[in-house]
Amino acid sequence: MSGAAKATACANIALAKYWGKADDGLNLPAVPSVSITLDPLVTETTVTFEEGLTEDAFALDGEPARAGELKRVSALLDEVRREAGFETRARVTSDNRFPTAAGLASSASGFAALAGAASAAAGLAPSLEELSARARRASASAARSIYGGFVELPAGREGRDDLAARQLAGPEHWDLRVVVAVTAEGRKPVGSRSAMGESRHSSMFYDAWVEGSRRLCTEIEEALMDRDFPRLAPLVEQSFFAMHGVAMASIPPVLYWQGGSVAALHAVRRLREDDGLSVCATMDAGPHVKAICTAADADAVAKGLEATDGVLRTLVTKPGPGISIETIPAETEAS
Ligand code: PMV
Repeated sequence: MSGAAKATACANIALAKYWGKADDGLNLPAVPSVSITLDPLVTETTVTFEEGLTEDAFALDGEPARAGELKRVSALLDEVRREAGFETRARVTSDNRFPTAAGLASSASGFAALAGAASAAAGLAPSLEELSARARRASASAARSIYGGFVELPAGREGRDDLAARQLAGPEHWDLRVVVAVTAEGRKPVGSRSAMGESRHSSMFYDAWVEGSRRLCTEIEEALMDRDFPRLAPLVEQSFFAMHGVAMASIPPVLYWQGGSVAALHAVRRLREDDGLSVCATMDAGPHVKAICTAADADAVAKGLEATDGVLRTLVTKPGPGISIETIPAETEAS
């Protein structure tokens, strides 16, 4: 078997956060989440099934990937090989257009692109829903990056391995901006997978988080569909502060925040309360602060954050497209 395909997918930022698994075996989220797919935070992934390879090879941003990363990639490839009925190993290259593993959800765009490229390279033609479920099994937030715009991933139900995300509205629904305030270089110290495992098993706030997240997610979805920024802002902040509270109360504590993160959170509050801008903050499993704002306020928000001590630079992103997949013809493959 030989075949090659390329896919691009964008990262996403959750407004209602996913944190914690309902079922370790099937990678089902314990809570529902809602996100925005972000243009231009793109990952491009190429998969080539090659006779003669003795094992899968995976290069991330031009460097051979670490053993743990290769294992997760191979697990997804194994699923595709099982479905397509062959055993040929693959060469995978993945390039992020933004810092890897620094809390910009590169695993989401990476596993979404991998699910698409691997399926197409194997000659399969899954629906978007099936692709989303495949990406979810590798990284739950990746299920959302299959779709553009505004996306929901429901909480998992026991035994339902077909759980997939669904699009709530396309990118044109609301002209928001997400200003990423980068506050540190390099990889985050604790991956989200192990950190959420710690939270589930040791955080005294975990049950309250799971219980409260359902209501919060419904309210966030309503505010989003109504394009009601004043209603959305405090809900978004409640979701991420609660997620980080759960993580910080884990044993051992998981603390993603750096000094620059705290300074940026105060800056966002000042921009909203003193300057009257439509802006609120969120953070993922990393030190960066993402300021969600209206398009009209994006320049002022970016300027305000750039002037904040501990903020290294900003990156302005907006609602973006879903996955795009292209098979690579055999002649191109050989050349
Ligand atoms: O990258 P994953 O699938 O392990 O999930 C990370 C979850 C957060 O980014 C922290 C929150 C979210 O909902 O995206």
